Amino acid sequence: MDSARFTLDPAFTVGEVSPRLFGSFVEHLGRCVYTGVFEPDHPTADAAGLRGDVLDLVRELGVTTIRYPGGNFVSGYRWEDSVGPVADRPRRLDLAWRSTETNRFGLSEYLAFLKRIGPQAEPMMAVNLGTRGVAEALELQEYANHPSGTALSDLRAAHGDKEPFGIKLWCLGNEMDGPWQTGHKTAEEYGRLAAETARAMRQMDPSVELVACGSSAQSMDTFAEWEATVLTHTYDLVDHISLHAYYEPHDGDVDSFLASAVDMESFIENVAATCDHVGAKLKSKKKIDLSFDEWNVWYMSRADAQVSALDWPEAPRLLEDSYSVTDAVVLGSLLIALLRHADRVKVACLAQLVNVIAPIMTEPGGPAWRQTTFFPFAQASRHGRGEVLDVRVDSPTYETRKYGEADLLHATAVRAEDGTVTVFAVNRGRSESLPLEVALSGLDLTRVVEHTALSDEDPEARNTLDAPDRVTPHEVRGTALTDGRLSATLEPLSWNVIRLA
Ligand code: AHR
Repeated sequence: MDSARFTLDPAFTVGEVSPRLFGSFVEHLGRCVYTGVFEPDHPTADAAGLRGDVLDLVRELGVTTIRYPGGNFVSGYRWEDSVGPVADRPRRLDLAWRSTETNRFGLSEYLAFLKRIGPQAEPMMAVNLGTRGVAEALELQEYANHPSGTALSDLRAAHGDKEPFGIKLWCLGNEMDGPWQTGHKTAEEYGRLAAETARAMRQMDPSVELVACGSSAQSMDTFAEWEATVLTHTYDLVDHISLHAYYEPHDGDVDSFLASAVDMESFIENVAATCDHVGAKLKSKKKIDLSFDEWNVWYMSRADAQVSALDWPEAPRLLEDSYSVTDAVVLGSLLIALLRHADRVKVACLAQLVNVIAPIMTEPGGPAWRQTTFFPFAQASRHGRGEVLDVRVDSPTYETRKYGEADLLHATAVRAEDGTVTVFAVNRGRSESLPLEVALSGLDLTRVVEHTALSDEDPEARNTLDAPDRVTPHEVRGTALTDGRLSATLEPLSWNVIRLA
């Protein structure tokens, strides 16, 4: 096998990694909240009902911004049901997931959850622009953020939260382009509503950061036209536009699945181009950033049947995908795609955090464990902070049905403030190791601190309740740095983290 190669030079950079790139998502869906993050009867639960074992794993995962409360759920969300004395909170039908929402966990509990994670955790709150509009968004904003002296801020204090929540980052609805969305709208209808809501929210507080809904997938028929129309209405009023993408193998086509990041990168580039097109038309100097606020591997084709079979249960087992080594390698590659576009993608949320297509799984009353996908995310969050270096790979290729010829190597590198560099690399080849040669130019690096890989003889291996530690990253020996040249061997179908100092 020929080597894959690239050069690292600090003179050629992409941009600074926003801490918000390592965000996640907690939706009222299945068991993400109930028996996921919140289970008052659990042996590790604190006084607020938050599971201590889950909190430990969330911290280890290195999650920053956490989007809430949905997702499709938010398009029927009544924020006032989720505040105040728990005994008085109503039970409601959740149309999105054919479930019953008890509202035992609400706004205050969400903020308490973030506080327990630590200062790195930041709220990202969505307002309902499906069944609701400007007035309710303003009420929620006043309840959450106004210090005191008004009906809703005083109500928050009376509910026990004297200090305002200080939510800075707000999503203006969710996936409003999708016909499945309660209150689905055309681009014109949504663009107008988003603009009116944004203008009003800024009247209350000009410092809020707002995310307009982009497309729920690049494959949507309305893609790009949707973004252009929405931004024509909202360009001066919002800071970000959202992107959502989920990947799974279709018809057993694993080779294309392994190249999913080809689609993710083109999606990012196409949305950035659309934003800039609108900016150019408006003669604006402002740049709209991208919020990739839902992304993951998701075996979505199984989901519809699961949801339509539900008869309004509380917290059903829903979308509890179990992730293999192959899935983790794809997820690692999606992380690489986000990092490679760190100049433009300023927020990204792995959807979701616990139990629902999640890196963390729990058993009610039982343990919590790490899925295979936990590891690439935790390692990227830990070592992917700093400046992304421009990586142009020269790689052997392989043929895919969906994307044609694709590089076997997918890689990026991040230089931390202290000058150390971490290379993140995926070998998409399923049967052969891939030799890697990296030329280091203008970098004062002399040693390999560590090379770890996530790979396995069985690409279907996964972590389960009975075998929670079956798959973990392992050390790779033989990686060398001599005379400004790094050489390594990437095992077949592997996610690699190579740290240089
Ligand atoms: O994350 C699961 C669902 O996927 C979200 O509720 C929705 O926004 C998307 O379609």
